[in-house]
Amino acid sequence: MLVSLWNDVPHKGALKMITCSAPGKVYLFGEHAVVYGEPAICCAVDIRTRVSVDHADSITIRSTLGTTGIDFETHPYVSAVVERFQDISSLEGVSILISSEIPVGSGLGSSAAVTIATIKALDMLLGTGLELDDIARMGHEVEQRVQGAASQTDTYVCTMGGVVMIPQRKGLDLIDCGIIVGNTNIFSSTKELVANVSDLNKRFPDVIGPILSSIGMMSVAGKGLVNTKDYVSIGKLMNINQGLLDAIGVGCSELSSFTYAARNSGAYGAKITGAGGGGCMVAIAPHERVDDVAAAIGAAGGEVIVTKATDVGVKVESL
Ligand code: PMV
Repeated sequence: MLVSLWNDVPHKGALKMITCSAPGKVYLFGEHAVVYGEPAICCAVDIRTRVSVDHADSITIRSTLGTTGIDFETHPYVSAVVERFQDISSLEGVSILISSEIPVGSGLGSSAAVTIATIKALDMLLGTGLELDDIARMGHEVEQRVQGAASQTDTYVCTMGGVVMIPQRKGLDLIDCGIIVGNTNIFSSTKELVANVSDLNKRFPDVIGPILSSIGMMSVAGKGLVNTKDYVSIGKLMNINQGLLDAIGVGCSELSSFTYAARNSGAYGAKITGAGGGGCMVAIAPHERVDDVAAAIGAAGGEVIVTKATDVGVKVESL
């Protein structure tokens, strides 16, 4: 796919394609609560977005969504990254080719991955010498520009890789068990779901406030459990976290059905990952039960991705 699309791109001079990639992510604990300053634990997963760049006379951005120049409708994140590099370098033309294993807009960090991989690829092409912290910061600024508001979670985890506690940015041990994602393929708007939780919190602060702090406490407990590799207890807390996400109104019947299917077929635990209301759920399971869990989520109607945690954040794939 990457090569055949790339062959159609007009290049300037010799082919000097640089390819960088960045991973997706799942939340073990803490989505929504993190918006209120509570801690969350996020884990980079081994499904990646790859971005290839080369010098060119004009700006071309190519993906399965289409071929455009700077275009905030079709390629908003990449367009914003290109404009950012035009501010800090002499960039005039570039060919950019995107290919991704991360489903778009499903809570797996697809926008952060394409943003961060593009920043790294342009950094390599233009020799701007950005450090990882600079890349994560620029990625966050780009997400804020495109989305209006964004937490640093996705861009930070996808830059650094590994399992990270947010907002402390503390790296935890890599989790060594199966990770199974079930995609509902139901579109959900993070902005809308965050607004719904905020409305609920304004209406019933004494009810919703303690739920959000309870979720935060699960991240605090989860931190020790990740480092002692106590996946049975992590699973139990993920199940409780799921109940509380349901309580604040970000569940849906498909997500419930997939989480029960996963638990009933040997998962340690299962919950929504990301904003909810559709999108994806995540289950963790012993390696020997991964196939059973994947089959159960599939039988319940989910599109399944079997993956694992990765400590590889943004990286250069080829120069
Ligand atoms: O669905 P995602 O991957 O965009 O995750 C949203 C997570 C929230 O906590 C609901 C919002 C946020 O910005 O942290």
